Order: sequence, then C-alpha cells, then structure tokens
Amino acid sequence: MQRLIPTLRRDQVDEGLLSVINTLQICAKEISFRLHQGELAGVLGSTLDENIQGETQKMLDVLANQLLKDILLENPHVRAVASEEEDGIVEGEKTGEYLVAFDPLDGSSNIDINSLVGTIFSILPTPDKTTSGEDMFLQPGTNQVAAGYVLYGPSTMLVFTTGRGVRMFTLDQKVGEFLLTDTDIEIPNETCEFAINMSNYRHWQPQMRHYVDDLLAGETGPRCKNFNMRWIAAMVADVHRVLCRGGLFTYPGDNRKPNKPYKLRLMYEGNPMAMLVEQAGGLAHTGEQRILEVQPEHIHQRVGVILGSAQEVTTCLEYLTDSQDSHSTATDV
Ligand code: F6P
Repeated sequence: MQRLIPTLRRDQVDEGLLSVINTLQICAKEISFRLHQGELAGVLGSTLDENIQGETQKMLDVLANQLLKDILLENPHVRAVASEEEDGIVEGEKTGEYLVAFDPLDGSSNIDINSLVGTIFSILPTPDKTTSGEDMFLQPGTNQVAAGYVLYGPSTMLVFTTGRGVRMFTLDQKVGEFLLTDTDIEIPNETCEFAINMSNYRHWQPQMRHYVDDLLAGETGPRCKNFNMRWIAAMVADVHRVLCRGGLFTYPGDNRKPNKPYKLRLMYEGNPMAMLVEQAGGLAHTGEQRILEVQPEHIHQRVGVILGSAQEVTTCLEYLTDSQDSHSTATDV
C-alpha cells in the first residue's frame, strides 16, 4: 500500500508543501497516540480556561494545539500558524512559503466520552512581503493549496486534498505510517441523510425550519421520501460520513446571540471542509455564497455552513432563498 508522502510526490507537490504536510502527519500520529491512551495518559478533562471563542478548553485541546504549533513552527517552510485556540497568529520563519490554519481538536466535547474527534487544517500560500501579521491569512478559501483533517476514531484516518481529488489514508499502527486506503472520493449527488443539531430548531430562521420540516415529513410530505438524521457533534466526523456515503451537513445561523449568529469557524472548519467537499463533487455554501469565496475579515470569523451532496445542498438553498416562505410569521427572526 502507498504511503502518504510518496503518493503526493507523484502529484508533483513542491518540496516545501510536502515538508509541511509531512510535519502535519507527524503531529497527527502523536495526537493519535495520546488520544488512544485516553485516561492512561492523564490528559482527559478540562482546564480552568476558556479559549478565544469563549469555550471551555479541554486538556487535550491545549496539548494538541501546543504540539501542532511547536512542531509546525520548527519547519522552515512555515511562515505562520493560526489556531482556533490562539488569540492571534504565531509567526515562524520569515522566508516560509506557507501559512497553516488549524483546529487542533475539533469536537473536543467528545473527548471525555471516548467518541470521535479530529484535527482540521488548511494550508495557504504566504502572500507577498507587503502583507504582514494576521492580514497574511485573510485570503479566500479558493487560495488554499491543501486542506484536510485527521479523524481519531476506531482507526486514525487522514483525509486530504491538494486540489487533485480527495484521498483517504489510514494509520497503520504497526508500521506507524499513513497508508492510502481510498482514492478519488466522490460524494453521491443525492442523499436521504442529514445532519443538524435539531435542539436549535426554535432559533433558526423560518426558511431553515421549513426545509427541515419537509425532511421530517418523509415520504408523505412534499419531498416524497424518508430522511434519516445523524449528529456526531464533531464536524470532522459528520463531514467524514458525508464524504464516505453522502448526506447534508449544516450548522446554520441562529438568533441565540444576535451579534454572533454562526458557530463554525471559516478558516479552521469552513474552508478546509469546503475544499474537500468540492473536490469530492459536493457543494459547500454559507447560505448566501460559496464558502470558498468568502473574503475573511479576521482569522476567527464564523460562517453558516451547508455542505454535502450537491442536489440536496441545492434544494436546501432553494428553501433559504424563498422569501415567500409560507411558514414565516411576523414574530419570526
Ligand atoms: O466547532 C465545534 C463543533 O464541535 C463542531 O465540530 C460541531 O459540528 C459542533 O461544534 C457541535 O455543535 P453542538 O454543540 O451544537 O452540537
């Protein structure tokens, strides 16, 4: 079976990028090892701190973040990193050709219940020397040169694209290498499965409620088919399912915090997942535009996310743009 780096070398990925990807896989193996040790490694539970997003930090969040940051910044090809767990960017080598944005441990509320979590990353080119600091990262997702995630599940998988399709690698614990196990991933166009946190139903805009109502109505409703629902509460795992067998995943905006309507982060979650999904033939949208075309204004920006099987995403968007929505009332937000 083919190993990660030789596989990418055949794609003529440049040596600098190869080196950054290699560093990421080293980090992934280390995080995977610590996670699989679980309670034995003494790293479960929360710290007393909150991250920049105002979320409780798990010890493993902190550890994974430190590990990625330290190891990536030792790589001379890395100009700077941006992490969901850091207030600002952290600079590395001035001549580094790449920027890495990452969510060190996505879905970390799953850690203490021994459930699925992952690391998501996005690699951008360093812009010219006239751009500095955080501004270097403020590039639309279309500029990403590579993106992917590591899913720490029953097996550890690295799912990856450099813009030439999506490949899946599985960590062989015996040899300590990621081996190619699936290639040319294609998301089926149609689906009967969706993923959304239904407990937020009352906070969504009426058009989103209408869309979900019609999914739930099943074969006797306007969609004339039954839909199943899955929610793992880790975007990595929910998107992995979509890449494996199709589906629609969404975390829509809601009206709980008027000035913070969205939950997921553009640079650490939206963009890398959108690149993977589009490379696999799916669609990834904010509800207003293609995620990859959003011009970021700051590194911790949040976005609405609707992604997955192309036809289902299109249907969902049709509901959202229906201004005549019959379920809307004057009190709806
Ligand atoms: O961004 C963090 C995250 O854990 C995502 O991975 C996941 O999709 C979502 O939040 C889960 O949200 P909720 O807590 O609403 O289920």
